[in-house]
Amino acid sequence: MATATVLATPALPKATFKPIIQNQNGKRKLQNVSFDPREHLTYEQPEGVIMMKDIGYSEDTGVSPVAVSQPFRLFSTECIQKFRDEVLSDQVMKDCLYKSNLAACQIRGYATKYAPFIYDAWHNPETLATISKIAGVDLIPNINFEVGHVNISVKSEKQASEERAAVERERKSYAEDEGIAGCPWEDDKPVVGWHTDSYPFVCVTMLSDCTNMVGGETALRTADGDVMKVRGPQMGCAVVMQGRYITHQALRALGAQERITMVTSFRPKSPFLADDSVLTTVRGISDLSELYYEYGRYRLEMLEERIRVQLKHLREAHTAGKKTYTKAIKLFLEEQERFIHRTNEELVPDEDVVAGRQPELDIPNEKTPSPPVDVERSSKRVKVA
Ligand SMILES: [Fe+2]
Repeated sequence: MATATVLATPALPKATFKPIIQNQNGKRKLQNVSFDPREHLTYEQPEGVIMMKDIGYSEDTGVSPVAVSQPFRLFSTECIQKFRDEVLSDQVMKDCLYKSNLAACQIRGYATKYAPFIYDAWHNPETLATISKIAGVDLIPNINFEVGHVNISVKSEKQASEERAAVERERKSYAEDEGIAGCPWEDDKPVVGWHTDSYPFVCVTMLSDCTNMVGGETALRTADGDVMKVRGPQMGCAVVMQGRYITHQALRALGAQERITMVTSFRPKSPFLADDSVLTTVRGISDLSELYYEYGRYRLEMLEERIRVQLKHLREAHTAGKKTYTKAIKLFLEEQERFIHRTNEELVPDEDVVAGRQPELDIPNEKTPSPPVDVERSSKRVKVA
């Protein structure tokens, strides 16, 4: 199955993690703050959006013609501080920290229980309308376990300043070699290798100050194998990407002591659109019972709704004295068979799931064809009869 995965092992954070950006304004009083879109949502339109056709794919490759946005401002500084307060609380760090062969510090599955502000931020209708507008399709959070997934990478001040010095040296020598001052210094080494995501869309939000950060772009593979880079977001800014269908990788960020990103995953709101979500990359870093409950539940709810509507059409057509349209019923049933088969396949038996193991995809670091081929394509045909 063509899904997520990775080639390079990322730098592991320290075992004892301490956020670098502490309370900067003395005592913040955010404990009782509720998410208020008028205050916390500071949306500014992205400078541009890269479409699937811009990178060589047809518009119906995924669930939207949109591939990835340029970084755009989404949340206020106070909102980000509140996110950090909830994510970095003792309880969350104690109960919701996951490690894997690919990443040593991920915080997951905490929002429902411990982070009401983050939960509300990502379920707020205005947030969803904003993300959906950029994505070109109405989206909802995929499952609550994935709401506010956080990746943490920290370095010592010494390491970060050495990186900054190395960047300067490189810049200088580049300018001397080429006779061009101020050319951008580039680091093409990935944090995580080429992969596709498990869920249709992601919104990656930066929770760290990136003032001294160099690099950190997302690289995309175009259909003909070329590489296109998208700038990484600044603090409070985000990038929306149809990561399930685009082979991509995150390039290393240098020079900053901490890099904390929040990655929230989305799927189409309509149960009549295709849902190609898989669990490939997340089984080993999840509370399986929660993950399977949420995935199984929403997939069955989608099925329930599709069947309810199909049944209504079937009954109405019959009542109206119309001939039963065999082809349409068979098409519908075949699509739902594929949907059930996929759902069942994703629920790998508990005893076969290795905790802390994220699969590595055997994609060499070379021209890689992109989108997954085993997609469930019921979107355009389910509304039959
Ligand atoms: Fe990704």
